[in-house]
Amino acid sequence: MKIAKPSIALLLLTTLAAQANAGTILGSKHDFTGLNKRAQVAAMSGVAFADYGSACVYCHIPAEKEGEDSSTLGGIPGWNRYTPATSTAYDLYDSRTLDNKVRSPSPISLLCLSCHDGTMSVDMTVFKPDGWDSSKDASLHVRLNGGNDLMSCGKCHKGDAAHSIEIKHIGTDLQNDHPISMQYAGLNNRDMDYRPPDNDWGFDNGVKLYDSRVECATCHNVHNPDVNLLLRVGADSLCETCHTK
Ligand code: HEC
Ligand code: HEC
Ligand code: HEC
Ligand code: HEC
Ligand code: HEC
Repeated sequence: MKIAKPSIALLLLTTLAAQANAGTILGSKHDFTGLNKRAQVAAMSGVAFADYGSACVYCHIPAEKEGEDSSTLGGIPGWNRYTPATSTAYDLYDSRTLDNKVRSPSPISLLCLSCHDGTMSVDMTVFKPDGWDSSKDASLHVRLNGGNDLMSCGKCHKGDAAHSIEIKHIGTDLQNDHPISMQYAGLNNRDMDYRPPDNDWGFDNGVKLYDSRVECATCHNVHNPDVNLLLRVGADSLCETCHTK
């Protein structure tokens, strides 16, 4: 597959963007520097995964690496994470009625899958922030995976000592999950089973399309942890945003 290089403008945007204050990540489940505090255990940040001292760099390219292209180092274009080795091997949802078949998820969904497919450790970032002292590296580099081994969060997170992490582990078989990375079928009234979007970015209620595609971040906003499961719209009206039936 040919991977398009992201434009410099786009890279600048994502790095500059990361400098702005997006506060709400802090203290949320995606705040890896804050998980010890949140959970009141000392067993995670700095032990099971590296504490980089910045909550943003687990996803965003650090500000001081601004303009660098993570994809030349095997990263997901525009993001500070590696492309999962399995990215071409995801079993994506498919069905007879699907309008658009997709072979591999787009970068913004690979970002999510790079943790949630459970194949790579959560601290496996392309760039480390400048201030980070590698002698303080974690002893373990653990994966978001329910497995009962030292490589997996499931070692602790299996429901007794800590909540089970299995439900957050999407895996590489996405056939039971909502289809992603396909062109939105409601564009230009192409398929009457789908509502046309309200604007170029998606829908007035906040449900967002990326380059006219449906991605993980279409339904979830990791920057708004105050709502149940980070959903942009409550589960009761989420589906009918797009599906007319
Ligand atoms: C779990 C991954 C993740 C972490 C951690 C994260 N972000 Fe983001 N960030 C995203 C995603 C995904 C988007 C794109 C969201 C969109 O398009 O709505 C984004 C977008 C942004 C934007 C663009 C504005 C917007 O809402 O579109 C800013 C600014 C930003 N992040 C700043 C930060 C800062 C500052 C931190 C650390 C405090 C941080 N992010 C941590 C995933 C993350
Ligand atoms: C952002 C728009 C959007 C939202 C929100 C959305 N869907 Fe979808 N859904 C789609 C698109 C686009 C397809 C694939 C259509 C195609 O290419 O044929 C699809 C496909 C599906 C399919 C597979 C249909 C088939 O033909 O095989 C199911 C099932 C489904 N969605 C259920 C849901 C449910 C349940 C919800 C709410 C939790 C939901 N969708 C929310 C856009 C959306
Ligand atoms: C750096 C690793 C990492 C990345 C990247 C990441 N996540 Fe997560 N995500 C987590 C962890 C850890 C949790 C909490 C797991 C738990 O509570 O057991 C989580 C939880 C969630 C939850 C459940 C929240 C809740 O309140 O229970 C959703 C939904 C989610 N992530 C979606 C996303 C989406 C969408 C993206 C991409 C934009 C993404 N994640 C990227 C690590 C990550
Ligand atoms: C040494 C044991 C241990 C390991 C390893 C571990 N955790 Fe935890 N974690 C805990 C304990 C104990 C709690 C507090 C109880 C709870 O929330 O279930 C906790 C809480 C959490 C919470 C906070 C839940 C909340 O809602 O406040 C998240 C998120 C989390 N862990 C994610 C992870 C992830 C992701 C990994 C693997 C990368 C991981 N943990 C590895 C022991 C561990
Ligand atoms: C069409 C909307 C939609 C898309 C696209 C979508 N999700 Fe979700 N997601 C939901 C809804 C609704 C729920 C809650 C109900 C459920 O579990 O099915 C959910 C639940 C979750 C959970 C939490 C499971 C739990 O119950 O704690 C995680 C983690 C998650 N999604 C991650 C992702 C990732 C990663 C992607 C992309 C690969 C993705 N989602 C794509 C709508 C969506």
